[in-house]
Amino acid sequence: MKTKKVSDSKIEMREMVMPHHTNPQNTIFGGTVMSWIDIAAAMCAAKHCNKPVVTVHVDELHFISPIKVGEHVLIKASVNFVGNSSIVVGVKVQSENPYFNEIKTTTRAFLTFVALDSNGKPTQVPRLEIINDEEQRRWDNAKIRVEAARKLRSQLSN
Ligand SMILES: CC(C)(COP(=O)(O)OP(=O)(O)OC[C@H]1O[C@@H](n2cnc3c(N)ncnc32)[C@H](O)[C@@H]1OP(=O)(O)O)[C@@H](O)C(=O)NCCC(=O)NCCS
Repeated sequence: MKTKKVSDSKIEMREMVMPHHTNPQNTIFGGTVMSWIDIAAAMCAAKHCNKPVVTVHVDELHFISPIKVGEHVLIKASVNFVGNSSIVVGVKVQSENPYFNEIKTTTRAFLTFVALDSNGKPTQVPRLEIINDEEQRRWDNAKIRVEAARKLRSQLSN
């Protein structure tokens, strides 16, 4: 199975906050941000494995600061970790005020996808070639989260 680099599948997606994206506080509705995160992360995972992917888990979704109408939203997604058929994608969302060039990190999340074969069954994904300390740090952190989530799933009864 071939190896891929993080840079082979990085995604950057941009949106602008329109009035129909907002909540009663006139800032962006969290569900809209979650949808953009899922789309960017899914594109990233599919680019890594060149196969259809489905979301199986969302981890540590943190809303750090609100985003206002008219602000630009930058959604950055990159592969952090891979298992046999699973791909963990880290997503960072930033708001950009186009009038003051002010950039803020507003949301972070980690999503797990599973690659599917033509029968809809989990299938192997390419290994990830780590080339720098930052990618290694993200890999190590993702591994801790994956193992903790697996342990939790096995401990909790349905
Ligand atoms: C994806 C799916 C086919 C996997 O089936 P499954 O029977 O759980 O498959 P497996 O037990 O063989 O697990 C496959 C991989 O997914 C991982 N996985 C499964 N459930 C998981 C979960 N809740 N969280 C994190 N990882 C999970 C497993 O650890 C395994 O990873 P690995 O191959 O890298 O070791 C099935 O869970 C599914 O169809 N889920 C619904 C997906 C969906 O509809 N998403 C929303 C729309 S995109």
